[in-house]
Amino acid sequence: MFNKFKRWKDKSDSITEDEIVKGQIPNHIAIIMDGNGRWAKKRSLPRTAGHHEGMKVVKRITKVANRLGVKTLTVYAFSTENWKRPEDEVSYLLKLPQEFLGTFLPELIEENVQVRIMGNKDAIPAHTLNAVEKAVNDTKDNTGLILNFALNYGGRAEIIQAVNSIVGDYKAGSLKDEIDENKFSSYLMSNGLSDPDLLIRTSGEIRLSNFMLWQLAYTEFWFTDVLWPDFREQHLIEAIYAFQKRGRRFGGI
Ligand code: FPP
Repeated sequence: MFNKFKRWKDKSDSITEDEIVKGQIPNHIAIIMDGNGRWAKKRSLPRTAGHHEGMKVVKRITKVANRLGVKTLTVYAFSTENWKRPEDEVSYLLKLPQEFLGTFLPELIEENVQVRIMGNKDAIPAHTLNAVEKAVNDTKDNTGLILNFALNYGGRAEIIQAVNSIVGDYKAGSLKDEIDENKFSSYLMSNGLSDPDLLIRTSGEIRLSNFMLWQLAYTEFWFTDVLWPDFREQHLIEAIYAFQKRGRRFGGI
């Protein structure tokens, strides 16, 4: 058993793009980008340097995912729990979308990428929200990959917000039917997006951290020890290869 696993692992480490099945690329990949702080610490750099490097990796991976035919890439850029970090780190993290879009928006437009955002917009600083909303607007007619930023996002808060909207719509009389799964999904911040097929979490942590709790019900999970700033095309290909080896049954046999 161990040898079999080891052989598979050795193989997986050297997977090339030719070995993944082009017709079975996951439609939606969600990523918990973890390990920026440790990456920086290893180099005696401030944690913000890790976040900055991580930002550049988002651009690279977006390009590769788009080329491979992934339809949606959701990245966990700032969680509702990240407010607990020191103030200077929070403010740095919340400035990054502006820098990211300031630097890369022309390239994203050239690559036909559509930008989206999901999260509680109320607490996002105006400078960040304006930059993101401008990008959402500038790219709304693009037909390539959807790059979906989870920004000030929390899975539980999202579900509570959906429940409150449903109650509000019942009271207002605009909603009369019973709620089914599809209807409930339409009240979530991911409305219009398919559920993720593949979840990637970097840096060796094996937990969900309040990410897309409803949407990940049938998602395949792939964890790697690689720190997010070190994540490269090869790792994405390994994740997709592993995904294609899984037998997804959605509760059936
Ligand atoms: C977790 O690493 C990462 C975050 C909380 C932020 C993720 C943000 C980025 C990768 C930047 C992307 C931003 C844009 C706008 C593209 P950590 O800081 O918890 O790392 P650690 O566990 O090693 O301390």
